[in-house]
Amino acid sequence: MSITKLNVVILAAGKGTRMFSDLPKVLHPIAGTPMLAHVVDTARQLNPAKLCVVYGFGGDAVPQTIKGDDIVWVLQKEQKGTGHAVQQAIDVLQQDAVTLVLFGDVPLIRLHTCQKVVADANQGSLALLTVEQPNPAGYVRIVRNSSGAVTGIVEHKDASEQQRQISEVNTGIMAIPTDKLARWLQQLNCNNAQGEYYLTDVVAQAVNEGVPVSTSSPEDRHEVFGVNSKKDLAYLEKAYQRQLADALLDQGVTLLDPDRIDIRGSLICGKDVVIDINCIFEGQVELGAGVVVGAQCVIRNSRIGAGVSIAPFSHIDGATIAAECRVGPYARMRPGSELAEQVHIGNFVEIKNSDIASGSKINHLSYVGDSTIGREVNIGAGTITCNYDGVNKHRTVIEDGAFIGSDTQLVAPVTVGAGATIAAGSTITKHAPAGELTLSRGRQVTIAGWKRPGKLVKNGQ
Ligand code: UD1
Ligand code: CA
Repeated sequence: MSITKLNVVILAAGKGTRMFSDLPKVLHPIAGTPMLAHVVDTARQLNPAKLCVVYGFGGDAVPQTIKGDDIVWVLQKEQKGTGHAVQQAIDVLQQDAVTLVLFGDVPLIRLHTCQKVVADANQGSLALLTVEQPNPAGYVRIVRNSSGAVTGIVEHKDASEQQRQISEVNTGIMAIPTDKLARWLQQLNCNNAQGEYYLTDVVAQAVNEGVPVSTSSPEDRHEVFGVNSKKDLAYLEKAYQRQLADALLDQGVTLLDPDRIDIRGSLICGKDVVIDINCIFEGQVELGAGVVVGAQCVIRNSRIGAGVSIAPFSHIDGATIAAECRVGPYARMRPGSELAEQVHIGNFVEIKNSDIASGSKINHLSYVGDSTIGREVNIGAGTITCNYDGVNKHRTVIEDGAFIGSDTQLVAPVTVGAGATIAAGSTITKHAPAGELTLSRGRQVTIAGWKRPGKLVKNGQ
């Protein structure tokens, strides 16, 4: 017998009491993405005929957060156990397929591991995913006969002294031909310590009916680690971050300390990239060849070209930075910042929604927003583009080769022509013509003989 159609059922209805949170457990993030989204992504790669998620606690929060028209959402109103949860989904599943059960709080399960379990069930068996547990106390043991066939599973508290020596434990993840699953679920009872319908009880039913029980194991133990508490979540986050860091090291990226990097999304690196400690990468980030990222930077949804150096404590979000630019320390680049080659952005400079052409420099303490800056422009310290009149945003245009003196305010909409010079301390509200010096300042005067006021003497003192 061979089945090739697949249903995936992901259990995600539980509250997660020990998380002490209003957020449903499966929405707590690992690497910036809800645990359930990790599982859904992996399930999708199996191309199932039906992808079903059982939700309950938190109501619509779960389906509203996890998007996808391919998901069939099944509500489990009362959480009466994992067996009860799968039973809620049974009617929407393809009956002539195998059903793989995954858990929304076991987020790191890998595609290859799922494929092994499904392949076993495709041969007509009940396929369990089991794992060697060096300290198996408390876990559900896998019991085998002398020829190695699985004869059942046993809870720790029900296990004999001999069975407690078994180090192979059940993970809960399993795949079962759906017709058998449907029948066995109907026969479950809740005569157990928690008064719940346990999915795992189907193992005994398979054994009773002589249906073979096959097993396979994951490559990595963290794949089957279930999160029940914030401690578990923190443990798994750290383990996962270390895996991501190791993958970067394997590609040749230099990480000054692989235990001090956080990747919450995808980070693509060219050759000879160097990343100093405590950097956070969010969303889709690309670093070109030879990019150096200093300590404590946060970089999100940005593309950074070859040879760029980003000095410590810079915050870069939604920016595109071409080759050979220098950014930071303490620079802030907000969405829509586009730097051409060899632009320098220095300390305490904020850039938003602006195009800056090659070779231009904004080195100190400036705000440049909604602007178009030409090539080889120098913007002096403390320059502000006043882009907002309280209602609307307006653009500032500074053409090639212009020089903006320090502490200039450019009140948008305004244009500074090519090669123009703006004297320091000016407030520019009108067009500054190309090639000319423009200034707007109070004239400097000295009041001869002026004295500072003395301290007032109050009455009676
Ligand atoms: C269960 C499994 C265990 C597995 C573990 C993975 C059984 C008897 N035990 O144990 O083998 O290793 O999950 O986390 O099957 N859920 C529902 N509806 C329910 C109950 C649970 O959707 O009525 C979901 C939860 O949202 C969670 C998962 O199932 O994602 C596990 O629930 P939990 O209560 O943590 O079960 P465990 O006792 O840990
Ligand atoms: Ca659990």
